[in-house]
Amino acid sequence: MTEAPQENLAVIGGGYMGGGIAQSLALAGFRVRIADVDAGTTRRLRDALITGVAEYAERGLVDSEAASRVPELLIAAESIADAVAEADYVSEAVPEDVGIKRTALAAIGAAARADTVIATNTSSLPLAPLAEVVSQPLIAAHWFNPAPFLPLVELAGDDEDALALAERVLTRAGKITVRVPAVPGFLANRLQFALFREAAAIVEEGLATPEQVDLVVSNSFGYRLPFFGPFQIADIAGLDVYAASYAPLTAQYGERFAVPPSLAERVAAGDLGLKTSGGYRATPGDQRQALADHRDRAYVALAALRSDLDDHGPVADVTIRTGREEDVPRLLVIWRAAVQATHDFLSATDIDELSDLVAGFLPRMNDLRVAVDATDTPLGFIAQDDGEIHMLFVDPAVHGRGLGTALLEDVGREFPTLRLDVNEQNPTGRRFYEAKGFIQVGRSELDQQGRPFPLLQLIRDSGASGQRVSPAS
Ligand SMILES: NC(=O)c1ccc[n+]([C@@H]2O[C@H](COP(=O)([O-])OP(=O)(O)OC[C@H]3O[C@@H](n4cnc5c(N)ncnc54)[C@H](O)[C@@H]3O)[C@@H](O)[C@H]2O)c1
Repeated sequence: MTEAPQENLAVIGGGYMGGGIAQSLALAGFRVRIADVDAGTTRRLRDALITGVAEYAERGLVDSEAASRVPELLIAAESIADAVAEADYVSEAVPEDVGIKRTALAAIGAAARADTVIATNTSSLPLAPLAEVVSQPLIAAHWFNPAPFLPLVELAGDDEDALALAERVLTRAGKITVRVPAVPGFLANRLQFALFREAAAIVEEGLATPEQVDLVVSNSFGYRLPFFGPFQIADIAGLDVYAASYAPLTAQYGERFAVPPSLAERVAAGDLGLKTSGGYRATPGDQRQALADHRDRAYVALAALRSDLDDHGPVADVTIRTGREEDVPRLLVIWRAAVQATHDFLSATDIDELSDLVAGFLPRMNDLRVAVDATDTPLGFIAQDDGEIHMLFVDPAVHGRGLGTALLEDVGREFPTLRLDVNEQNPTGRRFYEAKGFIQVGRSELDQQGRPFPLLQLIRDSGASGQRVSPAS
């Protein structure tokens, strides 16, 4: 076990954010005293936070040993004064109202030591009116929701020692800290709300539904964002390409889509991003290939992760209906996209050949069931024959949203025994079926063309006896 951290911490306001902050800090081994509006409320909140951490541990979301120590580390204080009296670092997370914050901060300042660092979790309030009610150093430490799971905490303020202590504490709690200017929205919300403004405008102009916008974002540039920020993405794409892309946007939407001066200057100077070994991030040319390799690995891993998360986050308004002839072109598109996203062991030629085969037999499948959205657009399908599943594919755009499970259960309601073959080199598919109660009963050697595509035979028997069949030896 690592050494326990020395700092005593306090969290004032144990609501949505403060609660998550307290959980994160206690999970990191800090002793954390929390205080809310009164002692009774604080006790109730503390109990709920402990139950919440235990549930996280049960679901495998946090380390269970760390979780087992949280009841001893998370203490309900009698009052704000009691919570902060011994604290080295206080996280203030009362509601986003300057009056409420000033009252709470004044109470914190009156009871805390002169060197206690006070960190407000304000999302948007200026720091000066908050700092003037305390004599201690006040900084902003802006967490993101859900606090136990989002990595970033933005730090703003002038006091170097206070920022350094915050960095120590938060790094210990596994957070990534970035120092940002004390401006409204700091960095993250300015960016997030700029995107939201355009997204809302698109919907308000009647150009697309919220569902369409969400699908487009999370499967295009949003898919890159866990790995790369906007400047790395621009450097990879090419700054000349970026600059040129602005012209039609400026023509349509005016000055707010004018080419940014820093982009125009770079392009004019021949600095075009990665292809000229420069760009905003000045990535050296010899790292270009490594970056491209990392990018490709990251996107394939993300596809697998989305597939693994199949049980979570349902897609709204999905119905499952019998497949029709006119669905087939769209089902082939889904098939190809899904295979490309999950079958990295198949070459492009393999996929082309298989695609021809699928195009031939899909229209002839009698028991084709299709999951469609509110506009009757197919999102996934299952093709089977007497419970023998030949195909189950879901559009990667909605992977991880429960559609695969829904299609499987749709067939499972009719057939107590389901059988299928899964490619041994497709661990994602295999994990999916095993999670749904399938077990392996055999394996085949080679596919018909003689290529080494070992297939595992899986079965799920939920017949009257409720007994699962034993795996074949
Ligand atoms: N909700 C988010 O997603 C989010 C994200 C980042 C930052 N923030 C910021 O975090 C802060 C808290 O927001 P929240 O969403 O957790 O609000 P919340 O309403 O869930 O929690 C606020 C808590 O403060 C308590 N409280 C009110 N007055 C108090 C006082 N005088 N002394 C002690 N406790 C008091 C309330 O009883 C409540 O439990 C705000 O500044 C908000 O802008 C919120």
